Amino acid sequence: MKPEEHPLHRLFNPESIAVVGASRNPRKIGHIILRNILEAGYRGRVYPVNPNADRILGLRAYPRLTDIPEPVDVAIVAVPAEKVLGVAEDAGRRGVGFLVVISSGFSEVGRRELEEKLVSIARRYGFRVLGPNVAGYLYTPARLNATFGPPRVLEGNIAFVTQSGAFAIALMGATLIEAIGVSAIISVGNKADLDEADLLDYLGVDEHTRVVLHYLEWLRDGRRFLRVLERVAASKPVVVIKAGRSGAGARAAASHTGRLAGSYRVYVSALRQSGALIAKSMEEAFDAAKALAWNPLPEPEKPEEFNVLVVTNGGGAGIQAVDTLEERGVRVREAPESLRGEYARLLPPFASTRNPVDLTGMAPAEWFYEAVRIALRSDWVDALLVLYTQTGLSGPVETAKAILDALRDEGHSKPITVALLGGPECLHAARLLTRNRVPAYPTPERAAAALSFVAEYAWRRWYLREKAGGG
Ligand code: COA
Repeated sequence: MKPEEHPLHRLFNPESIAVVGASRNPRKIGHIILRNILEAGYRGRVYPVNPNADRILGLRAYPRLTDIPEPVDVAIVAVPAEKVLGVAEDAGRRGVGFLVVISSGFSEVGRRELEEKLVSIARRYGFRVLGPNVAGYLYTPARLNATFGPPRVLEGNIAFVTQSGAFAIALMGATLIEAIGVSAIISVGNKADLDEADLLDYLGVDEHTRVVLHYLEWLRDGRRFLRVLERVAASKPVVVIKAGRSGAGARAAASHTGRLAGSYRVYVSALRQSGALIAKSMEEAFDAAKALAWNPLPEPEKPEEFNVLVVTNGGGAGIQAVDTLEERGVRVREAPESLRGEYARLLPPFASTRNPVDLTGMAPAEWFYEAVRIALRSDWVDALLVLYTQTGLSGPVETAKAILDALRDEGHSKPITVALLGGPECLHAARLLTRNRVPAYPTPERAAAALSFVAEYAWRRWYLREKAGGG
């Protein structure tokens, strides 16, 4: 399906937005959402709705949605819960396509009937509801930031769908610090109507999204989500953080949303079988998302023979990386004779070329350059992990440049992750790499874990395609 034909296309690409409860007070949520919509550069029509104001942020305000003279695709609602049903009736009469209900005070505090009434109004008029109890949503290709988070986020191709509104807002700022570019961030809240399955279905066809990340506490219709997941994961990676790993965590999730989180083990095994990549923490999920979004994703014919080559200038870093890869199910095999021969010609006789290829502590930046080029040319290597420990012989920035030069000269044709261990200069070097969409991490374990998601995805995609093809 083309994105324009998808029922949610208008939610992500609206021609007009109303903000109901667009307060005159700059400290109120409705005001901040309106300001963000304007500051992010949204190009459609914007209508503040507030019965107590004539103008807000330079725009004419309307007392009610029904007073707006033109069609409204999306209405963001930031008025107290008691007033939401009245707004929903107005939205129906105005022919609004989507109602995004920021307001809290629904099923998460036991008021299920209020939520059911909201959905029944939506069904009666034929519009869809995102929320209630959400932080809003953003979609960078449309320059749309309808959240009460910070105004600016870094654009990119990672989409994040989250049941925690706080995570949505936290990620917005982190996009800039961590250089994680996003296409969309969507807070799903109580999921009275639209849920993860609907959103994943759209993001699956969205050409601006390469990786989808979900933070999940519970699913209303698990089977439906698994069906959509299976379809989407066959063409793009879907990373899931399932909350409630421990008994106490599951209880905390239940009191967050008023629902049971379900058995973690049952969830995770079903999600994996349908192609999800499971991350245990936000850090792991975003590390994985970078590696998946910025690298070519290999499609080996025999994914069980996926070969990762580790290149390092420090023996310890190499061992930590190999242990991490093996623990995560990625076999680290000895490099074949021909490849070892190529490295042997480059390196001193005491350097190991088995895998990890140990460039030794005396490696200058040129050896990193050559080592990466050799790996990129090799038929045997499916993915490459480069580990650098700061030495006086090769500075971090110099080494990062050498890696970038090798990728430029040979082509970024294979997945790569890099770890840079050392002082503050390593941070500059990591930034240089990430600006050039080469995923860089501060430890060998994190770089190895991120690369293991790429290997796992190669395997899961192969399996899904075999299954779909009846193989
Ligand atoms: N239609 C349009 N605007 C209306 C209205 C109506 N029917 N009724 C009132 N308003 C206006 C108010 O006059 C006010 O504007 P003003 O400040 O210029 O007078 C504005 O809407 C907001 O109403 P107010 O009653 O002041 O509400 P509030 O801003 O204090 O709180 C919410 C509203 C939605 C933010 C609050 O109820 C809430 O749910 N907060 C939690 C949100 C949250 O955390 N969501 C989940 C995130 S994960």
